[in-house]
Order: sequence, then structure tokens, then C-alpha cells
Amino acid sequence: MVKRKKKKKRLRLKSSFKRFLIYFTFFIIMFIYTINESIKIVEEFKYKETYEYKILEKGYSKKETTKLIEKLSSDKLDQILTKKYNESYYQIVNQKYYKEKYFDKYVEYKEYHEKTTYEDVIALVNVHANAGWYNETYKSNIDNNYLVIVNKFYYLDSNYERTDLQNVSLQYSYAGNKVASIVIENFENMRNDVNEALGVRLMINSSYRPYKSQEEIYNEYKKISLKYADSYAARPGFSEHQTGLAIDITSLEHKTANEFKESEEYAWLKDNCYKYGFILRYPEGKEHITGYNTESWHFRYVGYDVAKQIYEENITFDEYYAYYIEK
Ligand code: DAL
Ligand code: ZN
Repeated sequence: MVKRKKKKKRLRLKSSFKRFLIYFTFFIIMFIYTINESIKIVEEFKYKETYEYKILEKGYSKKETTKLIEKLSSDKLDQILTKKYNESYYQIVNQKYYKEKYFDKYVEYKEYHEKTTYEDVIALVNVHANAGWYNETYKSNIDNNYLVIVNKFYYLDSNYERTDLQNVSLQYSYAGNKVASIVIENFENMRNDVNEALGVRLMINSSYRPYKSQEEIYNEYKKISLKYADSYAARPGFSEHQTGLAIDITSLEHKTANEFKESEEYAWLKDNCYKYGFILRYPEGKEHITGYNTESWHFRYVGYDVAKQIYEENITFDEYYAYYIEK
């Protein structure tokens, strides 16, 4: 009898332990589930605070959103979040030469010049051409030496003159030409190689020009019209010729600019002058960036590496300077 009672008691204990186990397991499952759900809610809440969520909500695609976040500072991201979807934002930050500090200027320029490509919008704003020629002017930094910029926005003082100007040999120049000594060495090498390749003789027609001479040239052109003068000649102080690093070239075989433009030596120079540290400064198709009609004769010394990069990237010195040098 006692034995049976004991057995019954054990059975009861066993079944209440089982019940306990079931409740306990249920409790643990519920606990884990609740924790998980809470984590999800917190994470969702946190995600809704991110730029990714907010920008996607504005209607930008995943690709656009990722790029905008990668390229824009939080200030700019906050700014675009106050505006409605604008395709330009992505296109602008996606351009190779995009500079964040000009973001607003690019947007504004594109708004007023719908037909201008994004590539040009970036280039024009970078070189300050959005301001209009000569409207915004800065003093050139002569410490940049061979990379000094002189264009319709950057000028040299009227008394600026390089200290290493050297007379150009009369063998390949017409009269009292002077240039930076580095230009002489490299021009001579280039001239020899052109002569070897094509049998023609390059000539330097114009080189260093002091402020006063540029003023005279510009005033001569201006007699025709201001527009004409500004498309061919720089205003005094704004001419690369004052740097002593620019040379106007034709050949003895093709003396005039028109003949030279069609010549083999011009084609050769276009593709090879970078090997001697020169660039064609006012190329065809870039008039809107340089502000000058194309000049098949005007070459500028910038050094080997930069000349090669400018040639390979197919940009003007103005664009190079704006992106790689100017802060
Ligand atoms: N012809 C070039 C632009 C100059 O006058 O410097
Ligand atoms: Zn020139």
C-alpha cells in the first residue's frame, strides 16, 4: 500500500515537472521573440533616421542614393532633402571633375543652361567661366612656376617678369624673342625631332611679351571690335605670353597660321608636344572653356608629367589647374 502511494506521488511530481518544463519553454520562446521584435523595431527606427532611407524616400534610386551619400557632405545632403527630387544632383556628383564646394553653382548653372552638358557645366564652373569672362579676377600664383595659370580670370602684375628669360636663337626665331630657359631646351629637342620625322623647320614667332607689348597688341585688335580683340588677344596682364612659358609656333615651310593649321607638323605637334612638356593651349572645341578661338600656333610649357596628363585626359590647362591645383 505504502509502495503504491509512493509511486503515485512520484508520478504527480513527474507530471508537474513536465508542465513546468512546457511553461518554461513557452516563456523562453516568447521572451526571445519579444526581444527580436524589439530589436527589429529599434533597427527600423534607426534606419529611418539614415540618409539612405530619407534620400530613397525622396524618389532617388538606390544607385543615385549611394552616389549622393558617397560624394556629398552631410550639410549638402540635408540641403537636398529640403528640395524635391532633382536628377541633376546625381548627374553632377557623378562627373569626374566635380568639386563639392561648387555644388550649388553647378546646380544653378544647369538650371539656367538646360542644354549645356553636365561635363561642360562642371568645366565652366570650375574655371570660373560661369561668371563671364573677366568678371571675376584673381592674382595668379607665380609660386606655381611652370604651372602658373594665366587666363581670363587669372592675371599677372604689370611688372611681372620671370628671372630666367633667355634670348631665343635667331636660327629658329625672327627677332628678339625671349623665353624661360626650360622652354628653349625643350623646344630645341622638339624641333630636332620634327625635323627628323618630317624634314620641316619649326619657328618661334612670338614668345615672352611684357605687359606693355600685350597692351599694344590688344589695343590694335580692339580697333576692329572689342569682341574680336577678346577672342584673339588677351587683355594686358591676362596673357600667357607674359609668363615666358608660351610660344607661338609655325614652320619655315608653312609660315602662315592657315597653312600651318593644315600641315603635317601641326598634326605631329598636337600628338607629340606633351613629350617635350608642351600643350596646345587653345584647342578646337574648347573655346567655351578657354575663352579664345582655337589657336593652332600657341603652345605652353607645363612640364612633362602635367603635359602628358592634360593630353591623355583631353582637358585644357584651365580645367587641369581648376581641378588639380586650385584649392
Ligand atoms: N593670343 C593669346 C590668347 C594671347 O594674347 O595671350
Ligand atoms: Zn600665343
